[in-house]
Amino acid sequence: MSAENTRPIWEQGDVNLTAARQKYWTENLSDQIKDWFAKDAKYFLHQALSTPVMTVLSQASGAWIQDLDGKRYLDMHGNGVHNAGFNHPRVLEAVRRQLDEALTFCPRRYTNIPAVQLAEKLATVAPGDLCRVLFCPGGSEAVEMALMLARMVTGRFKTISFWDAYHGTGFGAAAVGGEEHFHSRVGPLVPGAFHVQFPDYYRNPWGFARKEDVDAECLRQIEQVLQREPEMAALIAEPVSAKPVVPTREFWTGVRALCDAYGAMLIFDEIIEGLGRTGKMFACEHYVQPDILVLGKSLGGGLLPFAGIVTHEKYNILQDRSIGHYTHEKNALCAAAGLAGLEVIETEALSQRADELGTYFFRALEGLRDKQALIGNVTGLGLHLGIELVKDRKTKEKAVQEAEAVMFSALEQGLSFKVIDGNVLTLRPALTISREEIDLAVDILDRALEAVKSED
Ligand SMILES: Cc1ncc(COP(=O)(O)O)c(C=O)c1O
Repeated sequence: MSAENTRPIWEQGDVNLTAARQKYWTENLSDQIKDWFAKDAKYFLHQALSTPVMTVLSQASGAWIQDLDGKRYLDMHGNGVHNAGFNHPRVLEAVRRQLDEALTFCPRRYTNIPAVQLAEKLATVAPGDLCRVLFCPGGSEAVEMALMLARMVTGRFKTISFWDAYHGTGFGAAAVGGEEHFHSRVGPLVPGAFHVQFPDYYRNPWGFARKEDVDAECLRQIEQVLQREPEMAALIAEPVSAKPVVPTREFWTGVRALCDAYGAMLIFDEIIEGLGRTGKMFACEHYVQPDILVLGKSLGGGLLPFAGIVTHEKYNILQDRSIGHYTHEKNALCAAAGLAGLEVIETEALSQRADELGTYFFRALEGLRDKQALIGNVTGLGLHLGIELVKDRKTKEKAVQEAEAVMFSALEQGLSFKVIDGNVLTLRPALTISREEIDLAVDILDRALEAVKSED
């Protein structure tokens, strides 16, 4: 294998095999952790971002995860499954009740009450007239169901999506993703997937400072693809990117108008940003209504895998075909967990909490920016935040090694998060997090940034 083929890629997260990761292992793993760590590394197929692992966990609860030694980490990643917190008592109770009912798996062509109730709940809370639901086990599959539905509705197959986006793994979902990590060394993905730039106001290739100019250029690129590649089935995007970048309302209004003008469907992948994370139940409520909404991760209540799509009544057109023929489509246990998770988000007003605590957290991070020169930009919406580290605020050169060092220093101090794009610390805690826990996270980040600064 050539060196080019084995080069690590920093787009999706921190890299498994760096010297900093080795040092973290040497200095932090106890003997009992090392044993299970070694077995994990022995039996799992190694791949970037999963094996070998960071450490070995024994528990997760609320906003926290805990390792085998009992050390706790405030988890600001949680893969986005933990909007209602990990193992929320109400979700646990719903799952136990469903186990006692003795219906977990539900064979296809039959239904069950939790599955119907979850679909009904989503149809009720989803914006506008999005009211038809289809479930599946995971987010990548949900993205592919959305793409298939768009093909069936429009009779077209091409798509527009954004560079740097992640929409899941599998040939269809990876094709609309815009990362080298998932496009290289796998041969042809699904044809007809065109990519354009996402409006990044801090770091865009044209050096534009004004948001209007960035929006205009991105909309121009989208329209150009729509014109040169006619018969577009859909544009798929996260309304707020994972990085996160928060587009203007004008941008999404412009995209919606272009999709309507060219007959392409608008698919919003809210697998991370949905279900309260951005301060509203759905991120699209800040912007415009999509034709298909894709949900996942927290749809399993922070306990079980579940995902799905919600679309309009008029797209209920598949009577004689299937786009989501998944064995666990109406799994009663997953649905019970999802329903309880949604009820927690509603009854504990977690969207509102994400809005209020998100603003509090954002301001605290801006305060940190005034103090720590490594922070170039603070960005995000609700409890979906990111801080971008730069070597120099003028040149905006990415501080990649520094970001990794801050991540490991924070981890040693009990704060877990993921680094994306090499230099962005992504902070997405459980929406049940408290103000005190946010203060703790900010203190740890401050100390970690200070320690890395003094190393230079
Ligand atoms: C935005 C987005 N879409 C799709 C997916 C894929 O979901 P899953 O891992 O459940 O297949 C992810 C997972 O990280 C995601 O973040």
